[in-house]
Amino acid sequence: MANAPKIAFTSVAPGKATGTLVVFCDDGVKFGASAEQMLRPAAGLLARAAKAERFNGKAGTALELLVPDGLKADRLVVIGAGKAAGRTQQDWVKLGGAALGKLPKTGDAVVVADLPPAGKGGGKGEDMSGAQAADLAQGVMLRAYAFDRYKTRRKPDEEPAGARNVTIVTADVSGARKAFAEREAIAGGVLMARDLVNEPPNVLYPEEFARRTLALKKAGCAVEILNMAALKKLGMGALLGVGQGSAHESRVVVMRWNGGKKGEAPVAFIGKGVCFDTGGISIKPAAGMEDMKGDMAGAACVVGLMQALAARKAKVNAVGVIGLVENMPDGNAQRPGDIVKSMSGQTIEIINTDAEGRLVLGDVLWYTKEKYKPKFMVNLATLTGAIVVALGHEYAGLFSNSDELSERLTKSGEATGETVWRMPLSPAYDKMIDSRFADMKNTGGSRYGGAITAAQFLQRFVDKTPWAHLDIAGTGMDSRQNEINKSWASGWGVRLLDRLVADHYES
Ligand code: BES
Ligand code: MN
Ligand code: ZN
Repeated sequence: MANAPKIAFTSVAPGKATGTLVVFCDDGVKFGASAEQMLRPAAGLLARAAKAERFNGKAGTALELLVPDGLKADRLVVIGAGKAAGRTQQDWVKLGGAALGKLPKTGDAVVVADLPPAGKGGGKGEDMSGAQAADLAQGVMLRAYAFDRYKTRRKPDEEPAGARNVTIVTADVSGARKAFAEREAIAGGVLMARDLVNEPPNVLYPEEFARRTLALKKAGCAVEILNMAALKKLGMGALLGVGQGSAHESRVVVMRWNGGKKGEAPVAFIGKGVCFDTGGISIKPAAGMEDMKGDMAGAACVVGLMQALAARKAKVNAVGVIGLVENMPDGNAQRPGDIVKSMSGQTIEIINTDAEGRLVLGDVLWYTKEKYKPKFMVNLATLTGAIVVALGHEYAGLFSNSDELSERLTKSGEATGETVWRMPLSPAYDKMIDSRFADMKNTGGSRYGGAITAAQFLQRFVDKTPWAHLDIAGTGMDSRQNEINKSWASGWGVRLLDRLVADHYES
């Protein structure tokens, strides 16, 4: 990431000219004490500009001033932070993103992490300034990300942002640095996930994806790659059937982070890693098929999450398991009508070779449950177009056999902005995937309830283990563009699951 800004914290505004100075104000165009003091020489100018622009400090608004007389900056940006009451941690992250978004393409910046205290009823008061500065910095990191490694030339207005210095002014420098160590680790995991999802499918095939997970060793994870021989020996016939039409071999990768009590059962995260999904013999239409390079966003999230947990030394035992395959049509490809035997022993009749994600996950879920006896399993998968029809790009679908896990995921989603919406599981849908010839079939036979029948299929591979399935077809790729994400791949789920772990499973 050539365009990653260098972030530093300081308690006093630098004495020399800074490029861009960024400050925040509330919806009364009120500043925090230190921002106000810094702006004093230009207070009159600022008041006139605000009036002329009808700038009112509402959230999502900004006011820009060039060569602001009296300030040691070439440019002043005032960002509206809206109402003080009810301002959350996530709002500070978004403000950081908004700040980065207002900078010119190149040049240094000073960002003043200051706002008037929320007063009674809202906010956490001024003693939180270190943490808030760190939240801002995380927003800066997330927003600055761009995937441009394959661009060899650009139009003049497409200059890449240079490596710039972003200095964040806060009253609590040591608190900010300490808090940022953690937030930087989390953002690093998000960016790693985005990189994996954005990579083209000729570069990132299963073996190459597996090779890239070895980078987690540096952070202290154990990484184990299961090759074809190992997968055959385990009896993963469902996963192997999906990959058998590809020129590339399939892989399963197990990543372990043991930061918790010795011997304590791990929490487990499982990801769908279909490096490219043509649909196989049940081939997809040409239009938009290029998006199916992102059909490994679940696996990418698991890798980014494990990286984040290890980098911030989370006090938890965690295991991440990803199933990596490529779904291709070929003389050796799986056919509709084939019956495969999963590792669980259950047999599956293939109706549609494009319903491949559930076949991969069925084996990986079963393996994880048997081998690691986890406290719970959360899997992520770009599993169905049906979930995009239901929820669009805003919420991921949540399916679970555990009310407790569901509630925790929902809360973590609200806290991080990676929101999930619970969908039903019921034996009433279960009969839609019973097969005439095998124990089950891989599609529900009708398009209706397609996200649910897929989840119902997965449930047959988890037994009694508390489990949640997140269908991220709408959120993990072709992602919503917002204050902290301008990338096709959002890295969705890393912050959500990191928060789940931090709030409930660390000793
Ligand atoms: N990878 C797709 C689902 C998908 C669709 C992800 C759009 C992201 C965006 C999945 O493997 C698939 O093809 N699902 C089929 C299932 C059907 C054949 C039962 C679908 O959703 O159409
Ligand atoms: Mn498919
Ligand atoms: Zn798929």
